[in-house]
Amino acid sequence: KASLQAKQRGWHLYLVGGAVRDLLLANPNEPLLIQDIDMVVDGFHSAADVGAGVELAKALQEIYPNTRLEVHGSFQTAALLWRKDPVLGSMWVDIATARTEFYPYPAANPEVEASSIRQDLYRRDFTINALALRLTPPRPGKLMDFFGGLLDLHAKQIRVLHVNSFIEDPTRIYRAVRFAVRLGFTIECQTEEYIRYAIESGVYDRTTKENHKAPALQTRLKAELKHILQASYWKVALQLLGDLGALQCIHPTLKLDDELLRQLRLMERCLQRFDPEQQRFVHWQMRIEAIIAFLKPEYRYLVAKNLQLQDESIRRLQNLASTQEIVLESLPECDRSSQIVKLLRHYDLPMLILIALRSPRKIRQQIWHYATVLANVQPIFNGNDLKKFGYKPGPKYKQILDDLLSATLDGEITNKIEAKEFLTKSYPL
Ligand code: CTP
Repeated sequence: KASLQAKQRGWHLYLVGGAVRDLLLANPNEPLLIQDIDMVVDGFHSAADVGAGVELAKALQEIYPNTRLEVHGSFQTAALLWRKDPVLGSMWVDIATARTEFYPYPAANPEVEASSIRQDLYRRDFTINALALRLTPPRPGKLMDFFGGLLDLHAKQIRVLHVNSFIEDPTRIYRAVRFAVRLGFTIECQTEEYIRYAIESGVYDRTTKENHKAPALQTRLKAELKHILQASYWKVALQLLGDLGALQCIHPTLKLDDELLRQLRLMERCLQRFDPEQQRFVHWQMRIEAIIAFLKPEYRYLVAKNLQLQDESIRRLQNLASTQEIVLESLPECDRSSQIVKLLRHYDLPMLILIALRSPRKIRQQIWHYATVLANVQPIFNGNDLKKFGYKPGPKYKQILDDLLSATLDGEITNKIEAKEFLTKSYPL
């Protein structure tokens, strides 16, 4: 339907990007799940047709009214939400007008103008992502391969299209690693040199202070980090990012050394232990928090804020140093379980995990004991019971229940009879 609409207007329509790559790599005996479809329109004669992609998407939405249309005005692209399926996930169909991007200065966002499919493909990241499949006549189904993408698919390598690619868009370093690990490809030698050069030339500054497009780059960096840290292959990808020195995109002082790897391993153990079903925490966010927590305290807030993490994560990273100080100072002083509970119950489990990662073994074990055992202990009686026993409801209840809990935690009460005796003695009616 899309190609028919394009044809009727005298335009050409192409399938581009990841869908073409994945189609060419697909095993014909296995189902192929494509999450996003990217299409590009070109073949018009006037720059006034810069809105062709949007027009086509609108025409398609009229044919398929159950889709949702989003227009990204400044780039003249439109996205149709085609399917929102709880099992398969959503599927977006993006339709863009063929465009050339000029980078007036490094790491800037593209400026847009109508241009041919070749130029559109040339602005993309890697040869394997710069393939197009023509959908309109003449010769629909023809593969357009201007930059040797097919050869690189066969050679299983990630090759960049131009020298400045990583300078213009440092998030492509993360994409190179992601595709390499996900597809089992290698990063071609020259491309790796370009990556190292981009990193050496001060990648962090370009994605932060110097550049008014920094927020957009940070959004993309966060999206790439999310992609990587939630994938099954995240450890291998992170190792490769570390080998390339690419964690400097997050902060210039960040390195993947043995200590960070140890802390990340501990984090994994915590996630397995406290949330094996992945229902309680967002695991990739916990991993990025562990990585940012590895920075010196004075850098954590800014990095978390730049990456636009959730408010809760930013707050946690901001308060980590002071909370850690309190816990490390006070926990060794606690002789009784009730004291440990009174100290640690003010903090959520992710905060305690972050503290545990960077604490001596003894402290870590106390935190685990708290999180797995002590935090789950309940007072033997509740407010209703107190009412039944004849205590007048009021603010005193909190204190009574708290004392009951402490006595239970410290082993002074083990059953209801002892609890009743404790009440009679400590709080006579
Ligand atoms: N692209 C790019 N530079 C980026 C991001 C994207 O050149 N920083 C181009 C690539 O050509 C890519 C296309 O935009 O193929 C679509 O991007 P995206 O949907 O992020 O990636 P896919 O290649 O579709 O990969 P995935 O399967 O992970 O979605």
